[in-house]
Amino acid sequence: PAPGWTVEADVVVVGSGIAGLTAALRFTELEPEANVLVVTKDVLSAGSTRWAQGGIAAVLDPHDTPDEHLSDTLLAGVGLCDVEAVRTLVSEGPDALRRLIVRGARFDRAPDGELQLTREGGHRRRRIVHAGGDATGAEVQRALVEAVRAGSIEVIEHALVLDLLKDAEGRARGVTLHVMGEGARDGVGAVRARAVVLATGGMGQVYAATTNPSVSTGDGVALALRAGAVVRDLEFVQFHPTVLWLGPGSTGQQPLISEAVRGEGAFLVDHDGERFMRDEHELADLAPRDVVAKAIMRRMRETGRDHVYLDGRHFGRDTWKTRFPTIYAVCHEHGIDPAAEPIPVAPAAHYASGGVRTDLRGRTSIEGLYACGEVACTGVHGANRLASNSLLEGLVFAERIAEDIHRVRPEPGDPVPGQAASGLVDPRARPRIQGHMSMGASVLRSRESLLGTAKALRDARWTPVAVPACTESWEATNLLTVATVLTGAATARLETRGSHWREDHDSRDDDEWLGHLDVTLTEEGP
Ligand code: SIN
Repeated sequence: PAPGWTVEADVVVVGSGIAGLTAALRFTELEPEANVLVVTKDVLSAGSTRWAQGGIAAVLDPHDTPDEHLSDTLLAGVGLCDVEAVRTLVSEGPDALRRLIVRGARFDRAPDGELQLTREGGHRRRRIVHAGGDATGAEVQRALVEAVRAGSIEVIEHALVLDLLKDAEGRARGVTLHVMGEGARDGVGAVRARAVVLATGGMGQVYAATTNPSVSTGDGVALALRAGAVVRDLEFVQFHPTVLWLGPGSTGQQPLISEAVRGEGAFLVDHDGERFMRDEHELADLAPRDVVAKAIMRRMRETGRDHVYLDGRHFGRDTWKTRFPTIYAVCHEHGIDPAAEPIPVAPAAHYASGGVRTDLRGRTSIEGLYACGEVACTGVHGANRLASNSLLEGLVFAERIAEDIHRVRPEPGDPVPGQAASGLVDPRARPRIQGHMSMGASVLRSRESLLGTAKALRDARWTPVAVPACTESWEATNLLTVATVLTGAATARLETRGSHWREDHDSRDDDEWLGHLDVTLTEEGP
């Protein structure tokens, strides 16, 4: 559709989680006169950040070192992390966290005033700061939204990003948007800008059961693919091991039971009460996330059950209430008392370790287009993200992006018309896409299961009637785009590594596969 209105900005930031809001705030610190616009699909406080529980990993303990954080991150990433990106993350992380505190975020502190630190899977040290016990993301989001509201940053809510606008030289010059109910800005419009920052979050909604909110439909990766940007490592979708099991066939956003619960001493057991993680890894219940998710899946298959249990009864009721108030409440909402009984849990889709490929300054393969947060693939996660490195990545690389745009000072330029999504998908295909992805391209994959999913995705494109352009059809289109590329990458990678687990190629193959799968979309497909 042709844009019905146009607004101008120096920088447009798409997305309002930790990455997007940090980029916007940092840029206005550097250029207070600049016109920075944040557009977000829902309200400013929606999105994945506010659901984060465990915390933010950063080296703050005097006995800890950036080298140890680096080593834990590389081990979790199973050979595919970019070492320089990880070094940047772990060495700049502590200061980025301190600036977040200056921007207003309040983290849990011990009586002596020091920040409290916990552990999660794959961390050999206590290095995770948290807020409100297990409500870290909510506090971070609160602080950043308040900081944005207090300043000069302009915000358009209920604005679904559609496509990238480029100039004749192929540089990013803005985006098209569909805004719902914004008066003069209603309908499809355009934002012209000197730089575009994608911070749209993840794509967990490609699966039937996920920890992600319903807005996580891969919009940024789909936009980047349509614009011709390089996308990397999409096959590495992380399944969180301990998601509250709500019964067979439960779909949509599922409640997370943070790894910090295991970090504080809870442990996994099967239906016979056996602590099966002890034989799986030297870190037992605190092994990296992919190891724990796989062990749970194997135990579920061996025992013919669809969940296992997380036992934290020994914490006692008071600790549950004060240290994990969110989880305690959500368990009770579902009739489970974690102080008196083990919590039923199973893995569910959680985090895209891959995304739009960037360099250390957040630059994508398209000049003027930046990406940060879950939508990006900076190289810090490799084949499996280390717990609580995601909020940290959003912080560190968002600041680097703002600084790069400030340094480069891109000139304004004119977008050329005619760049738009075509072939909208029927919104009724969404549950079918999710069901087939969960069946064939989920935590355990094989050539057969992936080919079955690929075929089902091709069929999902077919629609008997013209599809109206609306949020639901654009989301279904984006979901189908990212699901198709993800499935293709998972079919191509003939090995098991990190969160990519192939039943028919069940070991790691460093001779053939110690590299990345980069994808660009052409007229013919991925
Ligand atoms: C959790 O609290 O277990 C989630 C942490 C993360 O995804 O890094």
